[in-house]
Amino acid sequence: MPADGEPLDRFVTRAAGMTWAATRLAIHAERVAVNGVMTQKYHRNLWPDDRVTLDGCDLGDPPDRCIVVCHKPVGLACSHLGQDAPLIYEIVPPEFAHPNLNTVGRLDRNTSGLLLLTCDGKFLIRVTAPKHKLPKRYRIGYSGELAADAVVRCQQGVMIDGFDTPCAPAELTMDGPGRASLVISEGRHHQVKRMIAALGGKVVSLHRDRIGGLDLPSDLQPGQMRVITEDELARLGVPMYWREGPRALFRVV
Ligand code: URA
Repeated sequence: MPADGEPLDRFVTRAAGMTWAATRLAIHAERVAVNGVMTQKYHRNLWPDDRVTLDGCDLGDPPDRCIVVCHKPVGLACSHLGQDAPLIYEIVPPEFAHPNLNTVGRLDRNTSGLLLLTCDGKFLIRVTAPKHKLPKRYRIGYSGELAADAVVRCQQGVMIDGFDTPCAPAELTMDGPGRASLVISEGRHHQVKRMIAALGGKVVSLHRDRIGGLDLPSDLQPGQMRVITEDELARLGVPMYWREGPRALFRVV
């Protein structure tokens, strides 16, 4: 909500988490509207009742602490770029839509499963930064044969194409013919596919079903999402959030 008399450019910068320069460009490009009317007057004063939108999304209060849990279906890209469409953001319900909403890490277009979304950069880093070693579990369908010592090689750190250093130790479990589970704590690009390729197989299906201690909630069908519960946040295992709990700041537009 704008403060009494707050200039438009200051509010947009604050609420959308953009730089001044990006804000000015957005206003100049008529991407910002006040109470439904496009404006280029970036010094114009606002009042708490004013409704400001950027690209049609209500800026409202920045929903910086809200975390959304999603069952990602296959077929959608975790990207903001129109050229990558269809995008995961296209199925975000209006009450969660915000220009700052980002996926917490990325799943490939043809990967399904547990995906978190948030506007909170600190949370995003806490979950994705390799130094925090938050494990992520993937269920894999593969073709071909995995090396006989695949489990041990994963424990020791597999070298994958495109990287100079081995992956961090990972836990591979053979689940049956053509099926395996892999728990990794990094998020290198296409890491699971590259690890399986390095071990002699080819991934044909990939599904993430756990992050930290949080399993993909059984009430979410592919394509569905909702605000994370306090209990789920505790299971995720991110201490600062476990203490403070989520705050649902999203406004229904
Ligand atoms: N590793 C991959 O190869 N793809 C994903 O989507 C996630 C992890």
